Amino acid sequence: MRKCVALWLFLSLVASSAALNPILLVPGLTCSVLETKMHKTSVPHAYCEKHIKDWSRIWLSLPELAPDLVDCFVDTVTVHYDINTNNYHNTKGVEIQAADFGGMGGLYSLDPAFPLKAETILYGHLIDFLEKKLGYVERETLFGATYDWRMAAPDQLETNGMFAKLDSLVEEAYTKTGLPVYLMGHSMGAPFAHMYLTTHTPEAWKQKYIAGLITLGGPFGGASDATEYSLCGTKWRIPISMENMKAIMRHMGSVAWMMPRGPAFEGIPIVSTPQRNYTAADLQQLYTDGASPEMAAILSHVQPFVAETSFLPPGVPTYIVYSLNQTTSLTFFEPEGPTCGKGPTSMIATRPGDGTVPDLSLLSFKYWKTQPQPVVPIQVSTDHVAMLSDPEVHEAIRNIVMPKQ
Ligand SMILES: *[C@@H]1O[C@H](CO)[C@@H](O)[C@H](O)[C@H]1NC(C)=O
Ligand SMILES: *[C@@H]1O[C@H](CO)[C@@H](O)[C@H](O)[C@H]1NC(C)=O
Repeated sequence: MRKCVALWLFLSLVASSAALNPILLVPGLTCSVLETKMHKTSVPHAYCEKHIKDWSRIWLSLPELAPDLVDCFVDTVTVHYDINTNNYHNTKGVEIQAADFGGMGGLYSLDPAFPLKAETILYGHLIDFLEKKLGYVERETLFGATYDWRMAAPDQLETNGMFAKLDSLVEEAYTKTGLPVYLMGHSMGAPFAHMYLTTHTPEAWKQKYIAGLITLGGPFGGASDATEYSLCGTKWRIPISMENMKAIMRHMGSVAWMMPRGPAFEGIPIVSTPQRNYTAADLQQLYTDGASPEMAAILSHVQPFVAETSFLPPGVPTYIVYSLNQTTSLTFFEPEGPTCGKGPTSMIATRPGDGTVPDLSLLSFKYWKTQPQPVVPIQVSTDHVAMLSDPEVHEAIRNIVMPKQ
């Protein structure tokens, strides 16, 4: 009898896993592990490494952030932006790629030595749920679309090949299972997947290859934190100074993409100074006044591009998981003006949201043009990062990908 039950269990597991639509995880900003190879001709200190022959982890490797080594690290990961050509490039002699494209190795945790540590955990809890509770299998039914988030300027995803790589991964998942794929984007991964579906993929292709879009905490209208962090800096969970992080973020098109925008933010000050208020429409001026001509120029390319595409519907069944249970930043006050100085920044207006993304942005999917496929909002009670380990979110995902017959 027991044997029989075991056999039945085994058969039902096989049967259910065979029927799983593959999931392709699209991670958020800073949430793909990055690797480097380098042959630098100059370095900030004599002791910085100049040559690394084999791909090795740079984001993140905690030992590289030791106080004497952090300058070497910053020199390696900094993006250089050319205002005249709207091009982004690495420090001379440096190559950087996202780790383990297609697998979970570049998504599970930033540091394999401490996989589930609060400072380094990425999608580990979510991946554990999908694999252990739903029967997903890495590179069979579960795929990771890691990308170099430093270089993910929305106006360049087409030309820098990131969308083409997604195409091949979706087609691989489809070929392996014979089933269309769910794109699951968390944080910036949500607008990333939305832009992929609205600007890159043809209707007929979507109908064949895509089962649906699932978004978790998607900043469809940006978030004030992206502005504040790149303008004045922030303390990070990891030991990188505010100054260093600010310098890195000010050259990233992906950060510009994540700034407040669209009708939901109209007329709302994002940054307030004793001299003037800056709304989402004034962000280029804000960075010009804040001595960051690069970010002002980046915004001049990113904003019109994103404005043009952000109302397009994805054209596939869409499930939007969001939370409004946390106090979330909306307006920051800079007593010393847009160059920040050393004065304390204060938050003078907040909204309900998920602690990172305010409701105005999470609910900006309401401005999408209508589509024949359903767009299903799913409200949960957690925060932007905790949602990855939250049982309520896990159940919502289970109900989408394994609907009860
Ligand atoms: C900025 O806006 C707030 C209200 O949102 C207002 O009280 C304040 O006077 C404005 N500041 C300036 C300098 O115009
Ligand atoms: C979260 O917010 C919803 C709706 O605003 C509310 O019904 C729910 O009780 C809240 N949950 C928690 C844990 O605060």
